[in-house]
Amino acid sequence: MTDLDDISVNPSNNRHFSDVADTAVSRRSILGGSAGVAALGLMGTGVASVLAACSPEPGEPGTTTSTTVATPALLGFAGVPVSAADTVVVPDGYTASVLIAWGDPVSSGPAFAQDASATAAQQAEQWGMHNDGVVFFPISANRGLIVQNHEYTDDVLLFNDGMAGWNAEKTAKSQAAHGVGVIEVRRFGREWRVVRPSGFARRITANTPMKLSGPAVGNTLVKTSSDASGAAVLGTFNNCAMGHTPWGTYLTCEENFNGYFRKAATPNALEKRYGVGASAGYPWYTTDQRFDVDVTPNEPNRHGWVVEIDPFNPSSTPVKRTALGRMKHEGACVVEAPDGRVVVFMGDDQTNEYIYRFVSAEPWETAIAAGRSPLDDGVLSVARFDAGGSGVWLPLVAGDPALASFATQGDVVINARGAADAKGATKMDRPEWIDVHPGRKEGYVTLTNNSGRGNGTNPPVDAANPRASNVYGQILRWAPSGGDWASDSFSWDLFALGGDPAVPAHGATIVGDKYGSPDGIYVAPSGRLWIQTDVSSSTIDKGAYAGFGNNQMLCADPSTRETRRFLVGPKGCEITGVVATPDEKVLFVGIQHPGEAPSGDNDPANPKQFSSWPDGAAGGRPRSGLLAVTRNDGGVIGAP
Ligand code: FEO
Ligand code: CA
Ligand code: CA
Ligand code: CA
Repeated sequence: MTDLDDISVNPSNNRHFSDVADTAVSRRSILGGSAGVAALGLMGTGVASVLAACSPEPGEPGTTTSTTVATPALLGFAGVPVSAADTVVVPDGYTASVLIAWGDPVSSGPAFAQDASATAAQQAEQWGMHNDGVVFFPISANRGLIVQNHEYTDDVLLFNDGMAGWNAEKTAKSQAAHGVGVIEVRRFGREWRVVRPSGFARRITANTPMKLSGPAVGNTLVKTSSDASGAAVLGTFNNCAMGHTPWGTYLTCEENFNGYFRKAATPNALEKRYGVGASAGYPWYTTDQRFDVDVTPNEPNRHGWVVEIDPFNPSSTPVKRTALGRMKHEGACVVEAPDGRVVVFMGDDQTNEYIYRFVSAEPWETAIAAGRSPLDDGVLSVARFDAGGSGVWLPLVAGDPALASFATQGDVVINARGAADAKGATKMDRPEWIDVHPGRKEGYVTLTNNSGRGNGTNPPVDAANPRASNVYGQILRWAPSGGDWASDSFSWDLFALGGDPAVPAHGATIVGDKYGSPDGIYVAPSGRLWIQTDVSSSTIDKGAYAGFGNNQMLCADPSTRETRRFLVGPKGCEITGVVATPDEKVLFVGIQHPGEAPSGDNDPANPKQFSSWPDGAAGGRPRSGLLAVTRNDGGVIGAP
């Protein structure tokens, strides 16, 4: 007998996905101000979007229909007040449970040791530290895979004696706590639990073998003494946000890779542009020569990519897709253009960096059917935001006279930042997550903050980054011309300037509850827009953020811009990572680095001084974890 719960997930399901594309839905293009009709767009969301797109879409405010139909409000929960407590706060009628936390086994591995005494080998079978971007891949209505990044480690909390006596075993454990985790989850009643053991469960770490593909393969700059091919790499680390493809794979994005490398000699121009130098944030280089750039010169060039992982094949080799460019990748939001090409939007998260786009050369189904990756061949571009609400994508293609110093496309993608500089891209206030509203044909990007904007050293303010000393950040949205994500022009506006709308000096334009430093952003299938904040630990609830409480997650209505606080995290944490099941009856939400020290390092002798979340009195130290948020009446999260 076939267990309907065990239907395999393969690209053939995507026929169904394509069928959905034929459903035309009238939408008002709010940015163009015209009553254009756009086809229902599809986020490249694999099986997830198949199911999501198949579920009925609630009528959304902003939808034009020929008859007047009452549209239910998107936001239907009682907002929560700010909180500085060491706990997770959700609205009345909701429950937030910890699904998995750092050190819990992903399958049949060892349980978490509260004294952090796990070895490197044990950590490699456990949930990594500091979970970040997350995707849910449904298998059935009651079962799926969760793939989540483990962005970085707090090495003081990772070991029971902190960083004392750093050695190769400590490097190995720190590396094993980085990367990506895959778990299988099932619904039991209203509760979701991790399936243990599971044949899908997997940890990918800083030492997992991977391939390079695309234009950088074989480039002199990616060859090392251990890899003359320039195509075989070890590991991924500092994986921030993510994306997922229509063919059912996960994209993990390598962000601050430079902090793991150390070069004592004077950095070259490429290294300088990416921040590789003498001050490594991690001591890995002291025991692992791969991270000592004086010994292994090109290793940093093998990081800073988007990495594709097939979560349904636990023995598959992850692939770094170099056509998408090398940068401090935040995320990779995949959408499908009307002609079937895939379009990937990506932020480079550093002050004054850029927003990029990749458009595949051919429709994804054509490429996949022929055994090619749609992510290996296409055009990488960078955004220029012009005054007056227009903008263009500037292609980064070798052979362009403006890129005469780049001999090959491999050279362009390895130094995408340099190519973008040459093309005159707009320097942004730290681009973080990007997501799109497929129905409304709008993209949203969080620009978290830029305290130096307009200070004379940094660029002056501009239309898209309009505030000097921008401590609160903004959310920018854009609409591609003609509703085509592959179009080279777009219109844009500012969805919200952060801050407290009740304090005129903040200049906030939020319609609703105050927040600042927006980072995670996610459009649920219903159109509810979830916004997560990352106020740095040094600033939480003090200074410009006095009265803002701990980091939080809000829900906004894209049509009215009404924004309501839904969740507040424990002390010292960032809220990052959010995804719903297709029926939106559970929202998985990441709590990252609870108890991070507001200044300096944590104290290994007193690991709970800033937070004891989630284990409380019984625990030995705070742990990052993934929440499953459900509604006590079994309803849709955030809905009336
Ligand atoms: Fe990893 Fe840009 O936050
Ligand atoms: Ca982030
Ligand atoms: Ca951030
Ligand atoms: Ca943070």
